[in-house]
Amino acid sequence: MPFPVQRLRRLRGSESIRNLVRETRLDPSQFILPLFVCPGEGVRREIGSMPGNYQLSIDELVKECAEAQSLGIGGVILFGLPETKDEMASGAYAEDGIVQSAIRALKRELPRLLAITDVCNCEYTSHGHCGLVVDGDVDNDRTLEWLACSAVSHARAGADIVAPSDMMDGRVGAIRTALDRNGFQKTPILSYAAKFASVFYGPFREAADSTPQFGDRRSYQMDPANGREAMREIELDLEEGADMIMVKPALPYLDLICQARERFDVPIAAYQVSGEFSMIMAAARNGWIDEQRAMMETLTSIRRAGAGMILTYFAKAAAKLL
Ligand code: PBG
Repeated sequence: MPFPVQRLRRLRGSESIRNLVRETRLDPSQFILPLFVCPGEGVRREIGSMPGNYQLSIDELVKECAEAQSLGIGGVILFGLPETKDEMASGAYAEDGIVQSAIRALKRELPRLLAITDVCNCEYTSHGHCGLVVDGDVDNDRTLEWLACSAVSHARAGADIVAPSDMMDGRVGAIRTALDRNGFQKTPILSYAAKFASVFYGPFREAADSTPQFGDRRSYQMDPANGREAMREIELDLEEGADMIMVKPALPYLDLICQARERFDVPIAAYQVSGEFSMIMAAARNGWIDEQRAMMETLTSIRRAGAGMILTYFAKAAAKLL
């Protein structure tokens, strides 16, 4: 019996009834805050295109993480800006690299805070690509060795979870094998399984100083047009031993988060990337959009699509609001 018996507006009449029937809720424990760690002391350099986000030296990073923990945020994910870059991405897997040192400090000061590390080479190579460049392209199999070494060095420093974001084939298997061989059977892998060659990483590359010096990442990151291939990427990463998977970016790929949620019974993360964040901030600063509402609506939509965890630069702001 349709209208006038059925009136969906009945359940929208007041904030209390809307609250009662709300299907999707956000909790700070579902947010993961991305942070950029750099050399030095007392450094807190704001990233121009990402208001409220900073390049932080380790001492400042610890303060930022203490605040994240007090807000009940689920965890942090670290990206490193090394002192120097080279062809071999040496800083990525150095035992005393910037991320390794940051993790040691965090585990000493805030042992209960969940610390995730991004495993990739682009912040550490002189050319800004995610691996060893041979004949103008990233060599897959030789890059796997760097990734495996990085992941082990992160685990040795105390990382709770390692998260490979490079999009090499076989990296999850290579990392799992290396972790296990070195006694880190208990360290989970959160795989950036469906990571697209997206324009929305632009502000991050300023933040992490990781813009490729030539070409682009389309020979390893996915074509935004391909949804079925994304499911294959996820399936293969799970076969190789990924414990959790990620779809990245988030808002332009809600369909894939939803499909992945229906097909795979593992925890699913989505990364609301730098460009998604910066667009909202820019529009809000122009007075064109309400920042808080845009933040909450996008985060809710990502959760509704099926992501259990959201990596987001809004983690602190959203947690404060909840
Ligand atoms: C490293 C990496 C990138 C991001 C996360 N890990 C950049 C890239 O792939 O170019 C992007 C995150 C963001 O835009 O917020 N490979």
